[in-house]
Amino acid sequence: ILNEYQHYMMKEIFEQPKAIEETLLGRLTPHGVNLPELESIWDEESVKRLRKIYIVASGTSYHSGLLGKKVIEQFLGIPVEATFSSEFTYNHQPSNEPSLVIVLSQSGETADTLSALRQAKQSGCPVIAITNTAGSSIARKADSTIYTKAGPELAVASTKAYTSQIVALILLSIWLAKKGDGPGTSHIRSLVDSLECLPGDVESTLIMTQEAIDQFAQITYDQDHLFLIGRGLDYVLALEGALKLQEVAYIHADAYAAGEMKHGTMALITPGVPVIALATQESVLDKLISNIKEVKARGAFVVGISTIGDDLIGEVVDQVLFIPSTHPLLMPILAAIPLQLLAYYSGTVRGHDVDRPRNLAKSLTVE
Ligand code: F6R
Repeated sequence: ILNEYQHYMMKEIFEQPKAIEETLLGRLTPHGVNLPELESIWDEESVKRLRKIYIVASGTSYHSGLLGKKVIEQFLGIPVEATFSSEFTYNHQPSNEPSLVIVLSQSGETADTLSALRQAKQSGCPVIAITNTAGSSIARKADSTIYTKAGPELAVASTKAYTSQIVALILLSIWLAKKGDGPGTSHIRSLVDSLECLPGDVESTLIMTQEAIDQFAQITYDQDHLFLIGRGLDYVLALEGALKLQEVAYIHADAYAAGEMKHGTMALITPGVPVIALATQESVLDKLISNIKEVKARGAFVVGISTIGDDLIGEVVDQVLFIPSTHPLLMPILAAIPLQLLAYYSGTVRGHDVDRPRNLAKSLTVE
């Protein structure tokens, strides 16, 4: 089954163009999104009545939830709270306002997320699940389910299920915005166009970054600490990049909102410490460049991940990796690829079993 790959993790990283293509299949229309699985429960009135959305998930799925929060808030214009499942279950205060709970779970069996789902239903909230596993407990208990079509994911670390989950969340955001006549509706066309090109862009990103990331992993493999910085959506992606490095390479990796470094973390920046600067969000590029200069001044070795055509970043970092440019809301999907590759190559060069990292399980059926 592995074909030319040595590990499932690598195979699944390279399956992402296909996983995303399958997840999009039949769901894009020229002006929006087709999600028949929601139509029987949700009409325009019920979407317009919504005052609050919760996105509830664990681990990597929580990180896609953080991205989903930003997209839904932008398009639908109502507040969205992204919460860890394990926190939601015991801290959620039911409100009288019409709310929706979206649960995300690749396996559909995570105990923390199942408990959160039950809690949501007890408080009278409708639940939409996004999962990769047909017939799973979460799919059966939710009021409606959107399936990602990533295919089975065997490596413990989630890669293709993660990016497909973000795609499904973006589809849901567009669908909700259209039904609810959200403030971002006029921008939907360009996002739909970019989604159509996404599988190809992911493919190009794999080709453009694989070799350079392999080399970078060979020189940083003996580092004990690594930092990822970014602003806005890049910060949210940095959280996922750090988690991948922790679980697969056992490197102490930490993600910081770039502007926060100077409020304490800068004390940890010593000569030679690797810092990955995610620079895919043009609207905050100037500010990010100032933050990169701050860590460079303390001797950090900075690798920038940016879009083709960005001339500014190359002047301030030690090494730059270019990835294709797409809609800003989709950039975290492309920028996730080099971070997954970095976790993979760092894990293998350090001699770890990247498919079955220590102390972890694919599906966590206890709280
Ligand atoms: C990390 C990873 C885990 C899962 C988490 C939730 O790579 O895979 O953090 O994301 O255990 O699992 P699901 O999505 O199955 O609920």
